[in-house]
Amino acid sequence: MVNTTLSVALLSGKGGVGKTNITLNLACALHDANFKTLLIDCDLGLANLDVLLGITPEGNLQTALLGEAGIEDVLYHVKDEGFDVLPAASGVPELTELQPEIRDMLLSRLEPVLHRYDYVFMDLGAGISGTVQTFAALASVRVVVITPEPTSLTDSYALIKVLNNKYGLRDFKVLVNQTSSKTEAKASFEKLHGACQHFLHLDPVYLGHLRNDKKLTEAVCRQQPLLRYAPTSPSALDFRTIASRLQQIRLNMLDWLGQRSVLQPLPAER
Ligand SMILES: Nc1ncnc2c1ncn2[C@@H]1O[C@H](COP(=O)(O)OP(=O)(O)O)[C@@H](O)[C@H]1O
Ligand SMILES: [Mg+2]
Repeated sequence: MVNTTLSVALLSGKGGVGKTNITLNLACALHDANFKTLLIDCDLGLANLDVLLGITPEGNLQTALLGEAGIEDVLYHVKDEGFDVLPAASGVPELTELQPEIRDMLLSRLEPVLHRYDYVFMDLGAGISGTVQTFAALASVRVVVITPEPTSLTDSYALIKVLNNKYGLRDFKVLVNQTSSKTEAKASFEKLHGACQHFLHLDPVYLGHLRNDKKLTEAVCRQQPLLRYAPTSPSALDFRTIASRLQQIRLNMLDWLGQRSVLQPLPAER
C-alpha cells in the first residue's frame, strides 16, 4: 500500500507550552476540512488527551502493548469531533522508557491502522526522555512547540540538539504558542533559529504562531477543544491557518511519504 499518511510529532523542551491543546485543535480544524486524523497520546508518563476531551476510554496504548487488548479495541472514536484517539494511561512509570523490541512490536501492530488516516499526530511528553526521542525519530514531521519565555527557548534548543546529535535529525518545524503578536512570535523563532544555525548548522522552519487566548483556558476547564467552544476566537483562527499549512506540507511530501511507512525507525536505530 502506498503511504499517504503524514505523521507529525509534537515536541517541547518544557512542559505546559500547549502541545496537547494544539494536537486536539489541529485535529478539529483538519476534520472540518474533511481529513481523517488520529491522535496518539504518546505521553506515556502523564497522558491527558482524554482529560482535555472529557472522555473516559476503557483501554489504552499500554494495555495494547501488554497484549491485554488489540489496537482496534483501544482506538476511541470521538463522535462529537470526528477524529480518533489512541489514549494512554497516566502514571505507569515502567513504560516511560520504550525499549526497541516494544517499539517494534507496537509499530507492527499500529502500521495497518495508521494507513486509514490522512494525519497522525503524536502528542509527546515534555523533555528529552528516551521515549520522547524514540517517538520523535519515528515521525515524518517534527513540530517543536515553544513560547516566548527564555526557558522555553533554551529547553527547545537542548531538545533539538539531542535529536540532531543522536539521530542526525535536521528538519524541525517550530510553532510559537502563547504569543501577544506575530512580531513577538517571529522574534522568539529567530532566537531559536539563530542558535540552531550557529551551533548545529541547521535551519528550523517557522510553522506559525498561536495567540494567547483566554478562551483556550476556558475551553480546557470545560474539557472541550477550543475550536468547538469558541470557534471564532483569535487562537481558533490561528489553528485554522496552521492546519492549512499542514495540508500544504502533506501535499508537498506525498512522493516522499509514498516511499516510507507512516512511522519509520531511522536506519541508524535498527
Ligand atoms: N494559546 C494559549 N492561550 C492561553 N493559554 C494557553 C494557550 N496555550 C496553552 N495555554 C495554557 O497552557 C496550559 C497547558 O497546555 P497543554 O496543552 O496541556 O500543554 P502541554 O501539553 O504542552 O503540557 C493550558 O491548560 C492553558 O491553560
Ligand atoms: Mg500535554
